Amino acid sequence: MRKTVERPLRRVLTDCVRLATAAPSLHNSQPWRFGIRGMEVDVYADPGRRLRVLDPTGREQLISVGAALLNLRLAIRRAGYRCDFDLFPEPEQGDLVARVTVGHPARPSPIVTTLAGAIERRHTNRFPFAGAPVPDDVLDELRVAARREGAFLAVAHPAARKAILTMARSADRLLRHHPGYQPELARWTGPGDDGVPPWAAGPADPLATVPLRDFAERAAGPRQRVKFEPNPSILLLATRSDHWPDWVRSGQALQRVLLTATSHYLATMPISQPVEIPDLRRRLLAPSSGLHVQMLLRIGYADPAFATPRRPVADVLLSRAGR
Ligand SMILES: Cc1cc2nc3c(=O)[nH]c(=O)nc-3n(C[C@H](O)[C@H](O)[C@H](O)COP(=O)(O)O)c2cc1C
Repeated sequence: MRKTVERPLRRVLTDCVRLATAAPSLHNSQPWRFGIRGMEVDVYADPGRRLRVLDPTGREQLISVGAALLNLRLAIRRAGYRCDFDLFPEPEQGDLVARVTVGHPARPSPIVTTLAGAIERRHTNRFPFAGAPVPDDVLDELRVAARREGAFLAVAHPAARKAILTMARSADRLLRHHPGYQPELARWTGPGDDGVPPWAAGPADPLATVPLRDFAERAAGPRQRVKFEPNPSILLLATRSDHWPDWVRSGQALQRVLLTATSHYLATMPISQPVEIPDLRRRLLAPSSGLHVQMLLRIGYADPAFATPRRPVADVLLSRAGR
């Protein structure tokens, strides 16, 4: 009897895992794996896909896995089931980031439907944005989205924005000279079903107004040079503490903010260079704030960006025997 209940659900859950993998990840490394067992989905960090040079502590890997976890939760809710989750349910198994438990059938709320509907429309946009400001009520909604997942979102006001962009540019320069950075970037750029393809890297910004990560430096042929918005809108995502669960919560908050922005037809681009250098990361917010910055975001209005590749779902699903 139990088997007939589970069999269709496994197909549904496999599709939910596919939607989870549409999440953003550092350099499109897709550093996650999933195990479906009955009414549970285990979410793992894949140690072979951590960027050891750029992300030595695994903080950005857990942010990426957290973003996938939020997608998974939304997809299960949209499929018509309640769901609960525990972070690090088996502390001796550090790669097991979350266990999602599927509950009773339940009608999805309008907000779940809206956010889940934005999963496949959200893409990182590295093209110029229009100068139009993001309305205050939308910024309020983004702040609420971050708070719902246990993080804080701050809008950088003009003076702070100038300082932050200067730090982001120096972070980018420092990283380019960091031993091992360039070969690691080369591993995660170019064609394939992971990494950032050249066409997603966007054009060059000769005036350097936006701290673009250079994913296209090695691309063959001349690169288009265009003017970017002179005063990009920058948001800071932060948490009160800075441990593994905070990094997963940051990823869930990041994704909820990105999906909320997408549902308002906003373009978004994560910026992580300044949070990859501990000294600069500490200087992004006043120490009196008591907050740890996890990620920066550029946000605004732009033409839609294109989807980047993902590995087939079979590649990220652990076989039942493998669990
Ligand atoms: C932790 C993290 C850090 C990221 N840092 C940057 C960044 O510094 N610059 C950038 O252009 N994109 C950044 N991204 C976006 C990823 O490159 C992007 O999510 C990935 O290439 C997949 O593309 P998609 O977001 O369009 O699905 C980051 C994403 C995450 C989750």
